[in-house]
Amino acid sequence: MIEFKDVHLYYSGREVLKEISMHIPDGKITAILGPSGSGKSTIIRLMLGLIQPTYGEIFVDGIEISKFSEEELFPIRKKMGIVFQGNALFDSMTVSENMGFFLRENLNLPEHEIARRVDEQLKFAGLETHAHQLPDSLSGGMRKRVAIGRALIFEPEMILFDEPTAGLDPVSSNKILAFIGQLKKEKGLGAVMVTHIINDVFSIADDVLILYHGEIIFHDEPNKMQECDHPFVQSFLLDPEEL
Ligand SMILES: Nc1ncnc2c1ncn2[C@@H]1O[C@H](COP(=O)(O)OP(=O)(O)OP(=O)(O)O)[C@@H](O)[C@H]1O
Ligand SMILES: [Mg+2]
Repeated sequence: MIEFKDVHLYYSGREVLKEISMHIPDGKITAILGPSGSGKSTIIRLMLGLIQPTYGEIFVDGIEISKFSEEELFPIRKKMGIVFQGNALFDSMTVSENMGFFLRENLNLPEHEIARRVDEQLKFAGLETHAHQLPDSLSGGMRKRVAIGRALIFEPEMILFDEPTAGLDPVSSNKILAFIGQLKKEKGLGAVMVTHIINDVFSIADDVLILYHGEIIFHDEPNKMQECDHPFVQSFLLDPEEL
């Protein structure tokens, strides 16, 4: 569904992404792993059309989006829910107001339809009894589920996560990973998950793409990482905490 063809990106004359070519299929969980500054978040921003490549092409469902205007990008962005690292929730809005916000802002839907979709997401995320609470009164894991519910409200085909378990304790992390797995199983929803945590990769990813200094050095199933002889992959497997 998402394809990059020979994408290069320069920031102030420095090549941050070099010759990125990849294909991310529908219905699978693809992890993007790599050290800080390797270009993981930049790839997510390119997928959403938030930035443009210096050269190269980006396809979403076969449509080349890299030169699209904001208006042309709207239907593309509706296909891809995004969950930011810090959740980016609105602190002064309740859980259900947060979940319905972008729907209310962007689509001309009747209130009862907004309420129906919000209720559906609240139920799926197990947050019905928290609908009227403010984000600050929830645990980190619950806040993450609100952010996921908000991303699901447009009924996307793919969901993009930037570090979904960062800052969560191990129990909450595993619950969020199980939830992402459940989205794939029950809704057939594919995901791109930026992470630097090896447990995230081995517990739910179908494929893993490893970025190193702006280049893809590995793209295969997680259990094939052992066979990769790139020194970064080998040292990472020996000491995953080092990343
Ligand atoms: N707006 C910008 N202007 C200039 N350089 C930038 C900009 N955004 C990112 N960079 C640089 O591009 C490189 C890749 O950044 P990116 O944020 O994609 O890394 P990352 O892999 O997500 O890192 P982290 O794990 O720390 O989030 C870094 O060297 C960063 O300093
Ligand atoms: Mg990042």
